[in-house]
Amino acid sequence: MTNIKYELLPSEEREQGEKKPSNWIVKIFFLSLVIFTLAIYTLSCTDSPLKSSAALFSPWRPMRLSVGSSWTNNLGNSSRLLDVIYTTETTSLSRMKQTETTEETHTESSTEDKTEISTIAHTDKAIESSISQHYALEESGRKYFVNSPKCKMSHPNPFARNIQHIYKKHSYIVCDKSRDMITVIFNESDSTYRLHKNENSTCCFKQILRAGSSANADNQYKLRPCVEFQQDHLVPNEVTAMLTYCRRPPFDKVSQMDAFSFVHPRKDQINNRTSLHKRRPSVLLWGIDSISRMTLELTMPRMYEYLNNQHWFELQGYNKMGDNTFPNLMAILTGFNKTYANARCHPDKVRGLDACPFIWKDFKDKGYTTAYAEDWSKFSTFDYSSSGFFNPPTDVYGRPLVLAVENELRITQQGQMPYCLGRKPASEYIYDLGVQFTMVNRNSTFFGMFWTNTFSHNDFSMPSVMDERMVKYMRTLDKNGIMDNTIIIFFSDHGTRFGPLRKLDSGFVDERLPFIYIRVPRWIREKYPKLLRNLQVNRNRLTSPYDIHASLRHILELDTPKDRLPRPEGCSTCHSVFEEVDWSRNCSQAGIEEHWCTCDTFSEVATTDPSARSMSTQLVESINKYVASKKGAERCRLLKLNRISSVQRRGNSSRYLIQLSVMPGDALFEATVEWDASAQRIPVQMPSISRLNTYAKMSKCSSVKEIKKYCIC
Ligand SMILES: *[C@@H]1O[C@H](CO)[C@@H](O)[C@H](O)[C@H]1NC(C)=O
Ligand SMILES: *[C@@H]1O[C@H](CO)[C@@H](O)[C@H](O)[C@H]1NC(C)=O
Ligand SMILES: *[C@@H]1O[C@H](CO)[C@@H](O)[C@H](O)[C@H]1NC(C)=O
Ligand SMILES: *[C@@H]1O[C@H](CO)[C@@H](O)[C@H](O)[C@H]1NC(C)=O
Ligand SMILES: *[C@@H]1O[C@H](CO)[C@@H](O)[C@H](O)[C@H]1NC(C)=O
Ligand SMILES: *[C@@H]1O[C@H](CO)[C@@H](O)[C@H](O)[C@H]1NC(C)=O
Ligand SMILES: *[C@@H]1O[C@H](CO)[C@@H](O)[C@H](O)[C@H]1NC(C)=O
Ligand SMILES: *[C@@H]1O[C@H](CO)[C@@H](O)[C@H](O)[C@H]1NC(C)=O
Repeated sequence: MTNIKYELLPSEEREQGEKKPSNWIVKIFFLSLVIFTLAIYTLSCTDSPLKSSAALFSPWRPMRLSVGSSWTNNLGNSSRLLDVIYTTETTSLSRMKQTETTEETHTESSTEDKTEISTIAHTDKAIESSISQHYALEESGRKYFVNSPKCKMSHPNPFARNIQHIYKKHSYIVCDKSRDMITVIFNESDSTYRLHKNENSTCCFKQILRAGSSANADNQYKLRPCVEFQQDHLVPNEVTAMLTYCRRPPFDKVSQMDAFSFVHPRKDQINNRTSLHKRRPSVLLWGIDSISRMTLELTMPRMYEYLNNQHWFELQGYNKMGDNTFPNLMAILTGFNKTYANARCHPDKVRGLDACPFIWKDFKDKGYTTAYAEDWSKFSTFDYSSSGFFNPPTDVYGRPLVLAVENELRITQQGQMPYCLGRKPASEYIYDLGVQFTMVNRNSTFFGMFWTNTFSHNDFSMPSVMDERMVKYMRTLDKNGIMDNTIIIFFSDHGTRFGPLRKLDSGFVDERLPFIYIRVPRWIREKYPKLLRNLQVNRNRLTSPYDIHASLRHILELDTPKDRLPRPEGCSTCHSVFEEVDWSRNCSQAGIEEHWCTCDTFSEVATTDPSARSMSTQLVESINKYVASKKGAERCRLLKLNRISSVQRRGNSSRYLIQLSVMPGDALFEATVEWDASAQRIPVQMPSISRLNTYAKMSKCSSVKEIKKYCIC
């Protein structure tokens, strides 16, 4: 019984999901009710209708079992899902008997969470009361994520009428309703894979390899000739990704194409868990592009509920430090600010990024196995207007698979994103690779980053499509025992940067506050209660991506006293979120540039005010000057002020937030400008500017990354 059918969810369920979404929702609701009930009666499941199946397994895992059996109820007699669930349950059971470390999963429940929180609150009454004294998160009818004299970060209602009006909930989209012709079977005891044919067919596979050289090193792949294989063929160790082609009788045409990844154990892997006292946690960064804290709550309610009921710690005052993905992820992965990241890491030069001190290299030096994978090759963080990596940056690298799959399989667009690649959503290639990677390396330490763009980047409503699926991925990681030794950071880089949501009043905050949750394994919670208390206190304090970088460094040396921990290069006042963040912190202390800072309060200035007009024309002038100063911008048109949407004064300062549109293209901008009232001038240097509508299509005549958002062809 050591086999796991390595498909996360079989296609029978996919069909079910699409055909009867409403039915499905009802059942999920029922399922949540069951889980809730079981959580209350944690140990006594004698009255449960699931008694018979519970008796088969461990009596202290009622929650897991209930999930399994409700799924089977859902699917009638679908035997394949049963297989998956039952084999998984059995293997995790046998694992539990063998290792004391796996113990934690079965006792975890939301009830335990609450006791823990109350214990912490109890032991630190003084701090808690000082927090509540200063931190009334609701004040004269307004809600705040952070509420201190130097930071009033407002907390808009994610379910506000005007948002509901433009929000469109999606259910899971099935990419291919046909039956899988191949299932990959994973043998847990030796980490090998077999290709199982589910019907009478002839199949062959083409191995996917990284190819290309110099500037194209990160953009090309090659396929080996198709190798025909027999039933339950063992996947060779050198094959990390493949495309499969299957033919049904009379075998004259390809009936089904598919693609799979395979993570193999590292050859030099130290496959023994070091003792409890010396061990280090693994780290998993699980990210989704462009989702704010509010959008997560609105579009992924099941995930939101899951996160709030498990051992996840939220940072509600997490504010982005730069505009788009690159600066924010660089702050996390290198601790560098944008200018320094560009100067030091040369993303535009071949081998530039290879020499960059990414944090995964520090983990690698400490014996960790590393992985990085991201979907949507064209817009990947390190490839969009960049040269990417010359050599694979990590032990496991998802890009060759993504390139091949995008090129060879059928793409189905959803919300102007390449949502389906062949038989499954693009993002699931990334997540499935993540599940494989963590599973194969679960007895040693790993650092993995799995990042997706294809169900969130261009449409704030679309994440709803993956809501339930995301919970299942998390539960799969849990079942596989990954959460026992892994610090998981589930997060985004920024919120909605353009589109209808951004144009609402709440858009300013939404753009700037990505969601972030951190899960810490039990042994760390027990061994370092102080660090956990700090993390909890930091829930409503101002934090930034630099703090996450510092936290990753902290994870590498949890026993080092805080004053000896390294500080991020780009923000020397930033530090680990396992250390208490000063409640009176301001944005500059968190490394957040003023334009991106959500701490200020604003006062309206009439758009007809002469100085508002003057500021706006000067702003457009500086954009024009900036664009003209760059090479490769020759075909960008001169911009002219069209309309001033709003002008707001930031707090009690001489800085103003301006929203305006220009012609041609009716492009919308938002900028923070310094205003010298006596000279009636804004300073010469270029202010920080957001572009509030999509610009990829309009800016095709220039490939210069820094000017794309200002360039209209
Ligand atoms: C499930 O199995 C039972 C008994 O084997 C059968 O009566 C029933 O029709 C099956 N249901 C489905 C949905 O296949
Ligand atoms: C899994 O691998 C182990 C070790 O190589 C082997 O003994 C066992 O038979 C394999 N299981 C299956 C179902 O192939
Ligand atoms: C991890 O350890 C468990 C228990 O020692 C063992 O059953 C399992 O096969 C190991 N997994 C891997 C991938 O080495
Ligand atoms: C598979 O199909 C072929 C052609 O129809 C047939 O000759 C062969 O016997 C089948 N094999 C099995 C195992 O059913
Ligand atoms: C586990 O690894 C450590 C150091 O890597 C080594 O000292 C120890 O002997 C190993 N234990 C086993 C059971 O292999
Ligand atoms: C960025 O970081 C570098 C090096 O740490 C520093 O010298 C520079 O002043 C920073 N730039 C900005 C705009 O903060
Ligand atoms: C932030 O706080 C620091 C320390 O109190 C202060 O020096 C700095 O001027 C403040 N920055 C802003 C923008 O208020
Ligand atoms: C605004 O700033 C001015 C001068 O810096 C100061 O005199 C005034 O009291 C401030 N007003 C408020 C409401 O803080």
